[in-house]
Amino acid sequence: MKKILITGSNGMLANSVKERLSKNELICTDVADLDITKENAVLEFVQDLKPDYIVNCAAYTAVDKAEEAGEIVEKINSDGPGNLAKAAKEVGATLIHVSTDYVFDGELEVEKSYQEDDATGPVTVYGITKLHGEEQVKANTDKYYIFRTAWLYGEGNNFVRTMLKLGETRDEISVVSDQHGSPTYAEDLANIIGEAIEKEIPYGIYHSTNEGFTTWYDFTKAIFEQAGVNCKVNPVSTEKYIEMMNIVQAKRPKNSQLSKAKLAKVGIQVPTWEDALRRYLIKEGKI
Ligand SMILES: NC(=O)c1ccc[n+]([C@@H]2O[C@H](COP(=O)([O-])OP(=O)(O)OC[C@H]3O[C@@H](n4cnc5c(N)ncnc54)[C@H](O)[C@@H]3O)[C@@H](O)[C@H]2O)c1
Repeated sequence: MKKILITGSNGMLANSVKERLSKNELICTDVADLDITKENAVLEFVQDLKPDYIVNCAAYTAVDKAEEAGEIVEKINSDGPGNLAKAAKEVGATLIHVSTDYVFDGELEVEKSYQEDDATGPVTVYGITKLHGEEQVKANTDKYYIFRTAWLYGEGNNFVRTMLKLGETRDEISVVSDQHGSPTYAEDLANIIGEAIEKEIPYGIYHSTNEGFTTWYDFTKAIFEQAGVNCKVNPVSTEKYIEMMNIVQAKRPKNSQLSKAKLAKVGIQVPTWEDALRRYLIKEGKI
């Protein structure tokens, strides 16, 4: 049994992490108890607690809002993990941090996927600050895992729930068909985190999405098929979608598939996104 501090513990991923790591001694905090942007408070808290692991599930995750939100985004996504890394080092704890496919520009050919050491090139404030967060972690401790994930859904508001709601009330919807990525069930990412702790895999960065890839359009079709929802799905380009909805959006990667070869090498197998979706829909009572 390990002593594990979870930050951002009210969030979507944290809900699954708490369940997966429940056999350990968990100390769960969110911004009201421990604001990760406050360096001294973080240091004092961690020095008092002396955890074996810190799992940082805290982040500023509103990708579009981040474009206009100012310095708070950098504080939460970069200074925060930096503070946790410094504190972890002080007490000899391992820091587990979560990052994103948005650290890449997403201009990769559709058949290809990014490796962990490929050149980064974020094009949004969210992606830039998340990359800074990775750099802060690496600069301040050697004992870290950074799990880059994507298209996350789980216990909380997410794309799958939104589509199911729309599908139940409309005859047809239009969904973007020119962005490629890997939907990731929070439970499967939480399991990767659990296995990393239990198997003591080598420190470093790991790409951690469900296996396989799709587009938002095909993902939506799969959601409706698996849940038996009768709603027509029309493919649209990102450009057309923005025009149709009359919205301003941060740029999205066209292809942000992440290769899981490194995870496989350390003995961690990840289920396919179709299998993950099925388990999620069963848990949600939709199948
Ligand atoms: N949601 C996605 O699609 C997605 C995709 C790729 C990567 N990620 C990454 O996965 C991780 C988890 O994302 P999520 O969707 O579960 O996030 P979330 O938005 O559901 O939860 C984030 C939590 O962080 C907390 N928080 C915010 N500021 C804080 C602060 N200063 N101090 C302490 N806590 C603070 C919030 O209160 C919230 O409970 C994040 O690192 C995110 O960048 C998410």
